[in-house]
Amino acid sequence: MTTSILGVHGVGMTFDGAGGRHTALEDISFDIGARDLVAIVGESGCGKTTLLRIMAGLQRPTTGDVRLAGVPIVRPEPQVCLVFQHYAATLLPWRNALDNVLFGLRPRGAEGRQLRQSALALLDRMGLAADARRFPWELSGGMQQRVALARALIRRPRVLLSTSRSTPWTSARARPSRSCS
Ligand SMILES: Nc1ncnc2c1ncn2[C@@H]1O[C@H](COP(=O)(O)OP(=O)(O)OP(=O)(O)O)[C@@H](O)[C@H]1O
Ligand SMILES: [Mg+2]
Repeated sequence: MTTSILGVHGVGMTFDGAGGRHTALEDISFDIGARDLVAIVGESGCGKTTLLRIMAGLQRPTTGDVRLAGVPIVRPEPQVCLVFQHYAATLLPWRNALDNVLFGLRPRGAEGRQLRQSALALLDRMGLAADARRFPWELSGGMQQRVALARALIRRPRVLLSTSRSTPWTSARARPSRSCS
């Protein structure tokens, strides 16, 4: 049996909003194992993004829990990266592609040089070797999406989640070798 890396147990989510009470998720349970590639498919508004936000620790469920290697996720979890459907809005327009990938990592000293090399290698793997110094608004939508993906992968997450309908890792060139493990 595959060991569970990420376990979703009895997850439910009810929103109390201006439009009244709305149950978006009810009793969702499944396990994701090492190197599993899982697709969550459903009609608009059925709760896919809500579930992914809960899996990344960005939102607490009303019922149930999510466990990373058996440990409940109760806050944003750095080992579970979420690449949003509106990836362009999450790139900082005043930072070039390389600096967007490195955002939040404080690349200084020898460790910083290593990080920059890793970031450049990731951009190269995404087919963006010549675009590291270009700004998001100089890149196509697909290129911006791959920068957002590189920014997630450089953190070497154990689980990579995406709300995107089409994903660059469906192409062999950009396929992550360890992000879903
Ligand atoms: N913060 C919130 N407050 C109230 N209701 C919410 C909130 N977030 C989501 N919802 C509701 O929960 C339901 C699920 O939303 P969600 O964004 O998870 O859907 P989705 O499956 O990702 O849809 P899509 O395919 O259109 O992106 C929707 O009815 C939405 O209106
Ligand atoms: Mg959604």
